[in-house]
Amino acid sequence: MTIGGPDDLDKLKDIGRIVARVRDAMAAALVPGITTGELDETGQKLLEAEGARSAPQLAYGFPGVTCISVNEEVAHGIPGDRVIAAGDLVNIDVSAEKNGVFADTGASYAVPPVSRRVERLCRDGRRALWAGLRQVGAGRPLADIGTAIGRFADRNGYTLVRNLASHGVGHAIHEEPGEIATWPNPRERRRMHEGLVFTIEPFLSLGARWAIENGRDDWTLLSEPRALTVQYEHTVVATRNGPLVVTGAN
Ligand code: CO
Ligand code: CO
Repeated sequence: MTIGGPDDLDKLKDIGRIVARVRDAMAAALVPGITTGELDETGQKLLEAEGARSAPQLAYGFPGVTCISVNEEVAHGIPGDRVIAAGDLVNIDVSAEKNGVFADTGASYAVPPVSRRVERLCRDGRRALWAGLRQVGAGRPLADIGTAIGRFADRNGYTLVRNLASHGVGHAIHEEPGEIATWPNPRERRRMHEGLVFTIEPFLSLGARWAIENGRDDWTLLSEPRALTVQYEHTVVATRNGPLVVTGAN
C-alpha cells in the first residue's frame, strides 16, 4: 500500500494501534501454565472488541487468530494445547484488518527465569529490527535494510533466517512490493517511495539459517539447524522524514 492521503494514514494508524495493543496484552498474559490456545483467545477477544479481523484467518484460512511459536518453532505456530513453561521462548505475531487496511506486528518473549544468552538474544532481536528501521526513508535503497541487519547480526555473532522475508502490507497482508530481504541481498535494486507501507521483521538466531516445514501440520515452521530464534516486527511507512512506525513500541 502507498499512503495516498490522510484517510489512508488514519486507517493504517488505527489498525496499527490495535495489533500493537493485542500483542502487548497477549505478552502480559504470558505466564507458565497458560496454553497457547488460551493466549490466542485473549487476542481474539481484543480484536473482536476493536472491530478488527485476524489477517491469517481471513487471507489464508489459518487455524488460529494469531500465530504463536514456541522454542524450536520459528513462525506460524498454531495456538492450541501446548502449555507454556518457565524458560520458554515464545513468539507472538499479530496481524489484522479493519476498514480494509491491514497491519502486522510480532515480538518474542522469554518466560523467566531464562539464561543470559536468551535475554541477550531478545534484546538484540529488537536492536536488529531497529537497525533495519533506521534505514527507512523515501528515496532510499530497500537493500540498505537487509545490509544493516546483516551487519548487526555478523558483528554480534548471530545468524539470520534467510527464507522468511519482510513484505509490503496495507490493502492486503502480503502485497506490493512483495518480499523484502532482512538479510544482505546484492540483487535488490529497488528504492522506497514516499508513503510505501511494509513490514520489517528480521529473524535473529543463535544458529538457524532457515525455517523449514515440520511435517506434522501445514503451517508451523521450525528452525534449521535447530537453534533458538527471535522475531520482532513492525509495520512502517517510508516518509521524507524517515520511518513512521505504526505498530507502537516494541
Ligand atoms: Co507478522
Ligand atoms: Co509480517
